[in-house]
Amino acid sequence: MSFINWSEAFSTNDAELDSQHKKLAVLINEIFNSMAEGKDPDEITKIFTELKDYAIYHFLYEEKVMKQLSYSDLESHKKEHDELANQIKDLHANFLDGHLIATAPLMQFLKKWLNIHMVTADKKLGEFIEQIKK
Ligand SMILES: [Fe+2]
Ligand SMILES: [Fe+2]
Repeated sequence: MSFINWSEAFSTNDAELDSQHKKLAVLINEIFNSMAEGKDPDEITKIFTELKDYAIYHFLYEEKVMKQLSYSDLESHKKEHDELANQIKDLHANFLDGHLIATAPLMQFLKKWLNIHMVTADKKLGEFIEQIKK
């Protein structure tokens, strides 16, 4: 079962960005499946840590690209990343503390990330990269 079904609606038209986003979607689905299956908390912790680390890596990757291309929306895009990174760090820390995933804030966070950031800011960045490449 999947929490996120990848669709073209998520595509940024940039192969590298899409491949990183897909990996993030896979990790998110793994967390939801592991929770639904009642897997060992240590197992879920491992995936959650991987998601947090990969998300931060991904944000830094996008920021590096934006800097290289002198992207004019870098600052506002980075601000959204900083907020998302802080949220995922908090959720991760809470999970490590209590070995419990609070589903509501996690869902809220993912909704913000996927339904807002990825389809607006990231899509815009993808379009910009595409223009530059032409
Ligand atoms: Fe982004
Ligand atoms: Fe992204």
